[in-house]
Amino acid sequence: MADERVLVLYGGQSSEHPVSCLSARSVLEVVDRERYEVVPVGITRGGRWLLTDGVIEARPGSPLPEVDEDAGDPVTLVRGVDGTHLVRLVGDRAEDLGAIDVAFPVLHGPFGEDGTIQGYLTTVGLPYVGADVTASSVGIDKRAMKLAFKARGLPQVPYLPVTWGRWQRDGAALLDEVEAALSYPMFTKPARQGSSIGITLARHREALAAGLDEAFTHDRVVIVEQGLDRPREVEVGVLGNDEIEVTAPGEIVPSDEFYTFEAKYIDDSQLHVPADLPPDVVANVQRFATQAWLAIGCRGMARVDFFLDRDGTLYLNEINTIPGFTPSSMLPMLWQAEGLSYPELVDRLLELALEAAADDLG
Ligand SMILES: Nc1ncnc2c1ncn2[C@@H]1O[C@H](COP(=O)(O)OP(=O)(O)O)[C@@H](O)[C@H]1O
Ligand SMILES: [Mg+2]
Repeated sequence: MADERVLVLYGGQSSEHPVSCLSARSVLEVVDRERYEVVPVGITRGGRWLLTDGVIEARPGSPLPEVDEDAGDPVTLVRGVDGTHLVRLVGDRAEDLGAIDVAFPVLHGPFGEDGTIQGYLTTVGLPYVGADVTASSVGIDKRAMKLAFKARGLPQVPYLPVTWGRWQRDGAALLDEVEAALSYPMFTKPARQGSSIGITLARHREALAAGLDEAFTHDRVVIVEQGLDRPREVEVGVLGNDEIEVTAPGEIVPSDEFYTFEAKYIDDSQLHVPADLPPDVVANVQRFATQAWLAIGCRGMARVDFFLDRDGTLYLNEINTIPGFTPSSMLPMLWQAEGLSYPELVDRLLELALEAAADDLG
């Protein structure tokens, strides 16, 4: 009999729903069944929690999987006297499926990686893998994240946050302002997204306007960033709670003009682990990654991403608190190169979650 029950949450309400399904499929395969009983719960795009059989297949004709509306019975979490229980709803009956010990939200983007699920799990008293409410919400929000990094003096490309209200009222003046502050090429990014969804590379004013329109379909806050010219993209993994370890850096070589959604999940971009970098760059990447982790108050895991400009300048790009998590995703590959296999990484994350929960109570 397994000692503990782990709730694996996947799918979810964000545009990154299929990416989460890919990550969860791999996690479900490797959770140590001697120690943990796995309870797979798929969250539909509409936000319904369904108890699934854990088989995550791509739909015919699509390369990516999806949690369908009929994937299983609806379930919910209820805080009982002896812990947090999973309850199944069948017709007008509720059936107690017993206590859960820990949750692994294998969810990316809004409603998964942004503190909302973390707040819900905290409220119902269930320990969970990864960053807490604050770190998750700061980490997903490029505006808040950049401010936190700035407060620590971390190097970032020049940028401007812009709001939907201003773009609607005063579009032309806003474009003038952006053009005065930054030069082309520029990147327009929804503040709270991921997987490059809603991101556009703009080389002139018309493209900038179109990029803003596109980004504002995802969020009411958009970041306009100074674009670098095909920088090297370097990433490290961080693992721990109070005491952390940082991997050697890996490098992404995108199959596209930049690292787009297609380049990430559909085309074959190349991942080089470890990256071929001079020792001083490696040291800076690891130092800045630690600072970035501390800046948002992270715990559990993170992938910290950098741009290395052709002139040798290193910029911190972002921190991801629930990064892509298939065995061929960068974070697991970085740990694999350090000698921590994918199943061991999953095991370690569950342990860290239980340790963090014990510390919070202690
Ligand atoms: N300032 C920039 N200069 C050059 N390339 C960039 C810049 N910002 C983003 N990119 C490209 O766009 C990709 C996605 O941007 P990123 O900010 O990491 O968004 P996401 O959170 O969706 O991953 C990057 O991996 C990189 O290829
Ligand atoms: Mg990124």
